[in-house]
Amino acid sequence: MQVASAGKSDVVQIDAYALVLGIYGDEPLSAPAKAVDAATGGLIGKVQAQKEFAGKPHELLTLVAPAGLKARLLLLVGLGEASKIDAGRAYRAASAAAMALASKERKTVAFALDPAWSAELVENAVAGAIAGSQGQDLYRKEKKRYPFESILWAGDAAPAVLARGQILGDSINLTRRLVNEPAQEMYPESFADRAAEVAKQCGLKIEIWDQARLEAERCGSLLAVARGSSRPPRLVILRYQGAKADSPTLAIVGKGVTFDSGGLSLKPSDGMLTMKCDMAGAATMLGAMRAIALLKLPVNVVGLAGLVENMTGPAAMKLGDVLTARSGTTIEVHNTDAEGRLVLADVLNVALDQKPSKIVDLATLTGACVVALGTEVAGLMTNNQAWCDEVAAAARSCGEPVWQLPMYPELYDDMIKGEVADIKNVGEGRWGGAISAAKFLERFVGQTPWTHMDIAGPAFRDKPKPWSDAGASGTYVRTLVELARSSSG
Ligand code: BES
Ligand code: MN
Ligand code: ZN
Repeated sequence: MQVASAGKSDVVQIDAYALVLGIYGDEPLSAPAKAVDAATGGLIGKVQAQKEFAGKPHELLTLVAPAGLKARLLLLVGLGEASKIDAGRAYRAASAAAMALASKERKTVAFALDPAWSAELVENAVAGAIAGSQGQDLYRKEKKRYPFESILWAGDAAPAVLARGQILGDSINLTRRLVNEPAQEMYPESFADRAAEVAKQCGLKIEIWDQARLEAERCGSLLAVARGSSRPPRLVILRYQGAKADSPTLAIVGKGVTFDSGGLSLKPSDGMLTMKCDMAGAATMLGAMRAIALLKLPVNVVGLAGLVENMTGPAAMKLGDVLTARSGTTIEVHNTDAEGRLVLADVLNVALDQKPSKIVDLATLTGACVVALGTEVAGLMTNNQAWCDEVAAAARSCGEPVWQLPMYPELYDDMIKGEVADIKNVGEGRWGGAISAAKFLERFVGQTPWTHMDIAGPAFRDKPKPWSDAGASGTYVRTLVELARSSSG
C-alpha cells in the first residue's frame, strides 16, 4: 500500500474512487466538509438535517456518486465530540472507515478527516486506515477486506508524518498477521524465521537460540513446556541500538506460545480453539521492534521472545514435576496450562543478562485477567510504580486501554509458595489469578523496574468491533512504540 499526500488540491477534485470525510458530532463542518457540502448542493447539511448522520464515533454513512464530487463514493465517518478527539479516536475512526471501504476492491481512497489535526493524530489515523483495510481471512478465496493500493491524505500533513503512520500501520498488520496464522504455520521455528526476515529488512540484530543452546543455558522452565511438542523451542533476541552504547536499554519481552493445548491439564475444545493467539505477546514485541527500527528512534531496545508449543506428547511435563529455572529457582508444576509463566521465567532471566534499565513484558497470560477487566483492557502489574505510570501514560496517549492491578506483597506473595520447591506455577484456587501469575513473574526480574501487561483479552477478538475485525487486534504495538519514544527523552 502506498500513502501519499493529496497535496494542495481541493478535496472536491481529488481523483480517488472514494473520499472519506470526517464529521464531528458537535462542531461546524471542517473546511473540506464545507467544500464538499458546497460542491454537492448542500448534501451534508441535508443529511444532518434529516438526522441520517449525527457524527457519533464510528458512525458511517455511504453516499453514492454525489453530483459535484470527483470521487464516486463519499463516506462520512463520525469523529464524536471535537473536544474528545485523541490518538485513539483518530485511529478508530480511520479504521472503521477503512473497514467499510475495503469490503470491496477499491484501489484509491482519499481521507479528509480534519485538516487541523496534529502530526500525532494524523500518524495514528494513517495507521488505523492501514489496519482497518486488512482482514483476517488469509485463506479465503472470497475476501472480506481488500487492502487499498493507495491512500491519498488530504490536508497539509508532511510526507514524513504520513510515512510514520504507515510504519505504524504496517507493523500492526505484521503483528496481526503472525497471530492470525494458524499454529500449523506459525510454530517456534517458523516464528523465529519470520523474526529473522523482519530483522534483515529493518536492520535489527538478531540472535536465535535453538534447543541445544537453550539446554546449554539451562532454561529448564521453558524447555519443560516445550517437551510435550514435536516442534523444538526457540528464543529470539532482537537488538536495536539508536542511542549511544552506554545509554539505558529498554527490554520488551513477549510470550510466544505458538499453540496452547493446555498440556496434560488439557483445555476443553472451546477454550483451545483460539489458542494460536497465545504468541500475541511475542508478535506485538516484533511489530513494535520493526516500527522502532524503521522510525529510527533514538533509544536502545532489546526485544525477547520465548517460543514454544504447549502440547501433550509422551515427554510432556507432568503434574508434580519440579523444574529448575535458569535463575536456579525451583518450580513445582501444579497445572501444565499455566505454561506462559514457565516460559517467561527463563526469558525474563535472559533479559536481565542484557542489563536493561527497564523491562516491559506482554503476555496472553490468564483468563482471570479477562474475567477481571473484560476483553478490551490489558492488566498492568509492576514492581515499580513510576515505571508502571510511564507504561500507562504511553498506552493512554494512543488510546489503548490498560488498568493496573495491585501487587500487595503481604497479601499475594504467599499465593505461589511451593510444597517441595521454591514456588508453584499456580495461585491458591481461582481467586486473583492474574495477580498470582504476575507474582510468579516478579520472582524472575530481580530489582529491575518491570511492568507486566496481561493482554489475554485485547490481543485477540472473538467478535468484531465497529473499528476492528475479529481475530488478532495488534493492540499495544503503538503503546510500545510510544514507550520507546518517551523513554528516549
Ligand atoms: N494462554 C492462556 C490464557 C488465555 C486465556 C489467553 C484466554 C487468551 C485467552 C494461559 O496459558 C492459561 O491457560 N492460563 C490459565 C492459568 C491457570 C491454569 C492458572 C488460565 O487462565 O486458565
Ligand atoms: Mn495455558
Ligand atoms: Zn497460554
